[in-house]
Amino acid sequence: MGTLWEGRMSGETEEALRALNDSLQIDKRLYKEDISGSAAHVQMLVSVGLIEESDGKSILEALEATEEEISSGSFIFQIEDEDIHTAIERRVTEIAGEAGARMHTGRSRNDQVVTDLRLWTLRSLEELGALVIALQSHHLLAHVWALARDFDRIMETRSRTDVSPLGAGALAGSSLPIDPEMTANSLGFSDIFKNSLDAVSDRDFVAEAIFVNSLLSVHLSRIGEELVLWSSEEFGFVEIDDAYTTGSSMLPQKKNPDIAELARGKAGRLIGNLTGLLTVMKGLPLTYNKDLQEDKEPLFDSFDTNRLVLTALTGLFDSVTFNEQKMTQAADKPFSTAVDLAEYLVQKGMPFREAHSLIGALVKISIENQKDFSKVVLEDDNFGPEVEDFFNSGVSIKRRISPGGSGLDAVELQKKQIKKQLEIQTSMLRS
Ligand code: ARG
Repeated sequence: MGTLWEGRMSGETEEALRALNDSLQIDKRLYKEDISGSAAHVQMLVSVGLIEESDGKSILEALEATEEEISSGSFIFQIEDEDIHTAIERRVTEIAGEAGARMHTGRSRNDQVVTDLRLWTLRSLEELGALVIALQSHHLLAHVWALARDFDRIMETRSRTDVSPLGAGALAGSSLPIDPEMTANSLGFSDIFKNSLDAVSDRDFVAEAIFVNSLLSVHLSRIGEELVLWSSEEFGFVEIDDAYTTGSSMLPQKKNPDIAELARGKAGRLIGNLTGLLTVMKGLPLTYNKDLQEDKEPLFDSFDTNRLVLTALTGLFDSVTFNEQKMTQAADKPFSTAVDLAEYLVQKGMPFREAHSLIGALVKISIENQKDFSKVVLEDDNFGPEVEDFFNSGVSIKRRISPGGSGLDAVELQKKQIKKQLEIQTSMLRS
């Protein structure tokens, strides 16, 4: 078998065209989705009477054999295999003979490729959701809520990805009595396309999936930045387990927080993926244009990158140790009480702006005279002896009793809320 369009063209394909045009190395990983899509399509063709049952059976067997060859690595790709769709159709035709040549009835690679890509994206969104939950279970409360919003976006993107484009054909459907509803059902899609022109050119789901990945990576990068800071010698709040750090080639004492730095660095790459895809999509006329082949690399790369970062960060948090003593010392620094003192004055009837400026002036005196802030405060007439307790260890944190604050009850409530949130999220995953 030569190219898919050998009837129309004469002569050989230029090497330069092949080198630019071929996407096999990138889209190979869609082979499972391509085979499921083809199987659903063939079953539909049999059911509506467009191909004989015996031909359908031979094609399905050939598809199964092809899947087995690709999975086991024994599949031999040929130079004319432009992409995975071409390669699979060529092999099915070699195995099933004339029956194989009937597989592409009423279908185009345009609706086929986007069906495959939607199936792949659905599966990947699901996996990403599960990885986000795994990290949430290990991480600090403040970041957990940002990740909960990421999870929400992953699920919403899933619902808009869950639409079958199969049956749109090259761009305008088919004159044959195909049944897109049936293929959508057997592939597990919840909905089917409404407009064939839109169906083959729509890559909104790819843009959205890359966006949710890039915003997630921004959150991961902020977690990374805090880890870098907290694990530094200067802060010393956390100790990353040796298994999750690397050493320096020159500085014998150094433990590098590579995972955290890469979590921070990879966000740049994902933001680039989003910008790249949106730039490809911008200004494209209807319907399928080969520009759209550029959708896969940034999509695959975004999921792959976040999978690596999420898995590494989850492992890191699993084994990290917090130096509570250092953290308490930092939280107990006398100036942490400044706002508590201003609020104390507010409760005694002073307008907040006035209290703010009064405390500000005391802070200034303390710094300029290098005098302990607690002493400066307790010498001031505005404060009674009960204020002494404000400077005791842990008091400032515990005083923030408002909802969502750092007070003990507020934190306990949040822990309950996040537990509930994680249960809801887990129940939303399909597998
Ligand atoms: N390899 C192509 C892609 O990934 C498949 C679609 C081909 N369609 C076409 N009209 N050339 O987008």
